[in-house]
Amino acid sequence: MKNFLFGVLLTMCVLAVGSFAYLRLGIPEVRADIPPSRWEASIVNMSVHASVRREAQELPNPLKLTDETLIAGGKFYLDDCSGCHGTSGKPFNGKGPVVFPPIPELPIVGTEYTEAQIFWIAKHGIRRSAMFANGVFAKDDQLWSVAAYVKRMNSLPPAVQAAIAKPAEGQH
Ligand code: HEC
Repeated sequence: MKNFLFGVLLTMCVLAVGSFAYLRLGIPEVRADIPPSRWEASIVNMSVHASVRREAQELPNPLKLTDETLIAGGKFYLDDCSGCHGTSGKPFNGKGPVVFPPIPELPIVGTEYTEAQIFWIAKHGIRRSAMFANGVFAKDDQLWSVAAYVKRMNSLPPAVQAAIAKPAEGQH
């Protein structure tokens, strides 16, 4: 029994020292322009998703789901999100920004997150990724409208789509 416990302890020490050395010696690759290993991608993805699910309160969208809300959200998306996440109907075709974690092209892949979780991500950002915290400069209402839009960006009534694409007064 004693030997067994000693064996368990030793294995744990070797694993802890090994993991520390792996990180301390800089063995993990940090380049963004080569694809990560499958296990790295899935571990990072799993923990980000779990953390967002745990942190984001499951609130209903406080804004009424009107055309105005979707138009405001769509315009905000075009200004602040589409440079990274892409625009409906205009795929990047592999020519989007090259970062890791990669940027999901939302009009193509959609998202499993709920509106409350999209609001939370837009507001607080995701650490160690290009997803920055919009809450620093945007109001909650703007971020709830963009959350409503992201969930419906591919199934909008044509009039709403046209209003989003229309340049604001004074812009050409
Ligand atoms: C500078 C680039 C950049 C901009 C601008 C940006 N994002 Fe992101 N976004 C990212 C990256 C990178 C990720 C992936 C993060 C990760 O997986 O850890 C991400 C992830 C997300 C996700 C999670 C998608 C999923 O299913 O995994 C949502 C939702 C999202 N962003 C919404 C937005 C919204 C809304 C805006 C505008 C207010 C925005 N983003 C602006 C880079 C950006």
